[in-house]
Amino acid sequence: MPLLEVDNLEIAIAMRGQLLPVVRGISFSVDEGETLGIVGESGCGKSLTSLAIMGLLDGTPVRITGGDIRFEGQDLRQLNRRERRAIMGSRMAMIFQEPMTSLNPVYRIGDQIVENLRQHQKISQKAARARAIELLELVRIPEPQQRVDSYPHQMSGGQRQRVMIAMALSCDPKLLIADEPTTALDVTVQKEVLDLMADLQERMGTAIVLISHDLGVIAETCDKVAVMYRGKIAEAAPTDDLFARLAHPYTRGLLNSIPVVDRDVEWLEAIPGRVPGIDEDIEGCAFHPRCPRAQDICRRNEPKQHRIGNEHTSHCHFAEEAAP
Ligand SMILES: Nc1ncnc2c1ncn2[C@@H]1O[C@H](COP(=O)(O)OP(=O)(O)O)[C@@H](O)[C@H]1O
Ligand SMILES: [Mg+2]
Repeated sequence: MPLLEVDNLEIAIAMRGQLLPVVRGISFSVDEGETLGIVGESGCGKSLTSLAIMGLLDGTPVRITGGDIRFEGQDLRQLNRRERRAIMGSRMAMIFQEPMTSLNPVYRIGDQIVENLRQHQKISQKAARARAIELLELVRIPEPQQRVDSYPHQMSGGQRQRVMIAMALSCDPKLLIADEPTTALDVTVQKEVLDLMADLQERMGTAIVLISHDLGVIAETCDKVAVMYRGKIAEAAPTDDLFARLAHPYTRGLLNSIPVVDRDVEWLEAIPGRVPGIDEDIEGCAFHPRCPRAQDICRRNEPKQHRIGNEHTSHCHFAEEAAP
């Protein structure tokens, strides 16, 4: 049984008396200790997908309109608020792009970790503080004995993101969802944080869903990849299979958006145009207006799922040919 199973998930936003679909039936699973990367440009529905898994959509105009989310075999959509809260932050944790929005600026970071620990575990104040220092050390914050009493604004962006990771890992979760965890950081710090996550995963066996708009980041860290475009999974595969045989022009476009010099001139450009808004209707394949390979059939019919390999799928009419 997979640790996390998302089956045909559909999400819509209530707007002007209508429900506008944003996530249009996506399925994926994550095994224990595995890392899944979800990649796609901004606006594809990645964050709403992770918020839906974490049960953080209450009180927003966003609704889950179909599908199932199962965690350790439990149907998360059926849980009440109290049951959900027991899972979130302990069995399952999340880190966001901007740690300043999740860290409370008026409390010392150590107190925030202690608070989080004591919410989920029977642990004394003293033991929780010792554990907080241990966690800061684990995420490589220098001088954790002193830094435990720092306020968030006294730390750098990279350190704050480490504190968030420490907090997320404090209850030893089975699954960590990291939504653009390094996007706000500069490149060297980004690399350090990603290395740290990989290292912690190896040591603790945490499964990770890593969300990024950067296919390079995903490629370096993930066992398998789901490429998302406009609320659907355009292509999915184990990372090695994906790069051995790209089978969707969107994936190729994302790959070419990674700044590297050593490539065919033809593909040097990033993808032209932009992700369509949720109120725009597109007939046929949602990617066709931006696709260099689009034919008549792409403008008319929505592509079905093609199986390229055992675990490799693509929603492209020319999936077989797209693969070089
Ligand atoms: N609360 C909201 N109200 C209206 N539109 C929203 C809301 N949240 C997200 N959206 C829209 O839903 C789409 C998907 O958003 P999101 O999941 O944040 O994308 P991603 O994380 O891939 O950038 C975007 O077009 C976004 O503008
Ligand atoms: Mg997002």
